[in-house]
Amino acid sequence: MKSPNVVWHHGEVTRDMREKLNGHKGIVLWFTGLSGSGKSTLAHAVEARLYEQGAHTFVIDGDNVRHGLCADLDFSDAGRVENIRRVAEVAGLFVQAGIITLTAFISPFRSDRERARSLLGEDFVEIFCSAPLEVCESRDVKGLYKRARSGEIPAFTGISSPYEPPEHPELEVDTANLPLEASVDRVMDYLSYRGIIAS
Ligand code: ADX
Repeated sequence: MKSPNVVWHHGEVTRDMREKLNGHKGIVLWFTGLSGSGKSTLAHAVEARLYEQGAHTFVIDGDNVRHGLCADLDFSDAGRVENIRRVAEVAGLFVQAGIITLTAFISPFRSDRERARSLLGEDFVEIFCSAPLEVCESRDVKGLYKRARSGEIPAFTGISSPYEPPEHPELEVDTANLPLEASVDRVMDYLSYRGIIAS
């Protein structure tokens, strides 16, 4: 609960000034999709490409955040809602710092992503990594699908907990079929088109 005695403090260094210093705009690239759909892989590959161009970036990754900032949260519906709320707030701080922020969370609930969109406005770019369940499950990189099928992991997304695909994402990347570099190109083209980075 927010205290009524807290007043927003405006700094002297503005977002605009930071963006000028950085040579590009801040934005949140919000990758969503099933576990194993390639969100983290794509986010890190986009980050590497941006880094080569001298951009200021950071990947906020579900698997990492759940070790610290969100270590107190489980995978119940309520735990996921709070996870995504916190991440959207943190991403909002990063974007104020003028950073190209890439978030990689399943973020399975449409309403949570829409809340992030309302918070971040034009800074929110939803990128749907659309590899279907069959593909993610056949990859089973972390062996979690097998454990979820056997009932060892409860409320596993796609198996025993829902995934609600985006209806109007800014970008849909066919991570089941597209080679990684082609997927990176699609995101980079979008950033140029939006004027976030120079083309
Ligand atoms: S989210 O639903 O709250 O957005 P998040 O992206 O933070 O999830 O974490 C997903 C990662 O946690 C998965 O990639 C997987 O490695 C792991 N995980 C562990 N338990 C579950 C579960 N029940 N459902 C989905 N992912 C899980």
